[in-house]
Amino acid sequence: MSVIKVAILGFGTVGEGVYRTIQSHSDELAAELGKEVEVAAVLVRNKRKPREINGNVLLTTDFEEILQLPKLDVVIECIVDKDPTFTYLKKAIQRGCHIITANKEMFAHHGNELIELAEQHQVSVGFEATVAGGIPVIQTLGQLLKINRVQRILGILNGTSNFILTEMREKRQSFAESLLRAQENGYAEADPTNDVEGFDAFYKTMILSRLAFGEEPDWRNVERVGITSITSELIEAAQNLGLRFKHIASIWKSGTRIQASVKPVLVGSEHPFYHVEGVENAVNVKSDIVGEITLQGPGAGMYPTASAIIEDLVHVCQSHMTKSNYLKTSGEDIELKNEHQRE
Ligand code: HSE
Repeated sequence: MSVIKVAILGFGTVGEGVYRTIQSHSDELAAELGKEVEVAAVLVRNKRKPREINGNVLLTTDFEEILQLPKLDVVIECIVDKDPTFTYLKKAIQRGCHIITANKEMFAHHGNELIELAEQHQVSVGFEATVAGGIPVIQTLGQLLKINRVQRILGILNGTSNFILTEMREKRQSFAESLLRAQENGYAEADPTNDVEGFDAFYKTMILSRLAFGEEPDWRNVERVGITSITSELIEAAQNLGLRFKHIASIWKSGTRIQASVKPVLVGSEHPFYHVEGVENAVNVKSDIVGEITLQGPGAGMYPTASAIIEDLVHVCQSHMTKSNYLKTSGEDIELKNEHQRE
């Protein structure tokens, strides 16, 4: 059986999850692809740190060494920083590799350039893991709602924030205690400011906007508020009124303009996100033909994110995704009625 050679950049929670999943699901991958998937190289910061990686895998701190491998088919990027990952992925595409990324900040900034470059080199870009962890929202919007005109999207897109808000309410814990637990569980970013101040959800929102509407709002006009001002007292007062705080991203088209916001919202029990708890994410899409659909599932963590990446691995190997797979060209003009927002 021939082989698909893969390099994994980064061996933190996500990179290790991808590595383990490729081993644990090798039979399924081989059956689906008709080829064995082999991890040829892993890029790490420190080669001496003990890790459970097979001895035949090239372990290196030098990306150029990976590029020089005689055969390399797919580069999977699981690094947090925006740079130098963008440079790595450009070089991988130029070398003729499909790329897969979990890096929302990098992809929100440079996704269009990577997709253009990939088209020129006839390779594919997988970015399912950039938004909503294990929920297949990118495939749903990009592949399964091609004819529907998306009218608006609501999302709980940051698992850490949702986990913190849930812990604070259910366990009456402080913000700091709940954040610590999210970090211990491997949900939070290296710098949790990105999670709790809404930057992480903001980047994901921009990626969804581009996918669903073919464009995104001017970043400077997007209201971005995190959860750091939500105190235990506020949560309890809301609970006494039958309401819960949720950190909600909204994207809608108003006239010809795309608008978006990312902020805490009080929701009642009738709202589709009222029961979305813990590290769960959810995405509610309203489209002209199907109406409203809600996708819900684990939004962060080792295996949910690995799941998105492994499914992308199959997609990029099986198809050359064209730009129309990534970007819708039109969304219907509607005013968001703020029916979900009770502030
Ligand atoms: N820190 C992110 C979150 C990880 O909590 O949602 C998944 O993108």
